[in-house]
Amino acid sequence: MVTPDLSVEVGAVRLRNPVLTASGTFGYGLEFLPYLDLARLGGLVTKGLSPRPRTGNPPERIVETPSGMLNAIGLQNVGVDAFLAEKLPRLREHDTVVVANVFGETEAEYVEVCRKLDDAPGVHAIELNVSCPNVEAGGMIFGNDPAALAKVTRTVRKATKLPLWVKLSPNVGDIRDTARAAESEGADALSLVNTFVGMVVDVEKRRPVLANASGGLSGPAIRPLAVWMTWQVRQAVRIPIVGMGGILTARDALEFILAGATAVQVGTANFVRPAAAVEVAEGLEHWLASHGVATVRELVGTLRREAHPGKR
Ligand SMILES: Cc1cc2nc3c(=O)[nH]c(=O)nc-3n(C[C@H](O)[C@H](O)[C@H](O)COP(=O)(O)O)c2cc1C
Repeated sequence: MVTPDLSVEVGAVRLRNPVLTASGTFGYGLEFLPYLDLARLGGLVTKGLSPRPRTGNPPERIVETPSGMLNAIGLQNVGVDAFLAEKLPRLREHDTVVVANVFGETEAEYVEVCRKLDDAPGVHAIELNVSCPNVEAGGMIFGNDPAALAKVTRTVRKATKLPLWVKLSPNVGDIRDTARAAESEGADALSLVNTFVGMVVDVEKRRPVLANASGGLSGPAIRPLAVWMTWQVRQAVRIPIVGMGGILTARDALEFILAGATAVQVGTANFVRPAAAVEVAEGLEHWLASHGVATVRELVGTLRREAHPGKR
């Protein structure tokens, strides 16, 4: 059996396989060194980095649901300076692609973080988080309004030479509008999707479980929604898509790839199986080999429609 070629290109970023770990679910990568070889990942996406350290929201910040989790971490992170001084040098010892997820409360803050990352050896791309549902300022404001998203994308595009991935919110009327806005202002790729806003109620206390009241839903519950959005966006833009939402297995990843994602990210699954992303990549290789498919690239966006003519 021929060994399939798993490598893909997300714009200028070449990945040895299409499976990355999703922001906020894999720390800064270093925490997972006991569990997997980072060089076996397509790449890793860091926790969202802001100009200064953030402590995030008060607890409770995470609650389990029947098929995923609801979180309102509030973008706790060490800040971009500590990332560059303490985390990145150690990450550079590993042969993997590092995508820095960036968050700001204002456009100026996004620019500040991106400029600092720009000259740092070992950062391969920036993923702009314009879609966090769990913070008061920034986040959703940029992600929900196509005009605001276009503006922040344009500003950041000018501030960095690095490939720019814009991470879209699913909490919008029509995700194709924000997708087109990001593409038109120079995004090199789109990551989708971030978490869906939700709430879990403690019926004894008669109050929301999360201190923030609402949180972002991730995990298997959102997968069909995320696959659908991937498919819709694939038909609206030309730039590559990095799909995510509830991927636990290679079959789940294939759903996104067939729907039009060039690469995928594994998030919530990392909390259950720390090596989940590597397992997904291995499972993809096995699936391709057993189906006689030579490259994962040839599967991207090849969903067949003819079995159901005229139906959605
Ligand atoms: C605990 C937690 C923290 C997250 N933090 C971030 C973040 O800092 N920046 C970001 O863009 N997305 C963040 N996300 C969203 C994930 O990257 C991903 O988009 C989402 O969880 C859907 O994928 P999944 O169902 O595989 O987890 C976070 C998700 C979780 C569960």
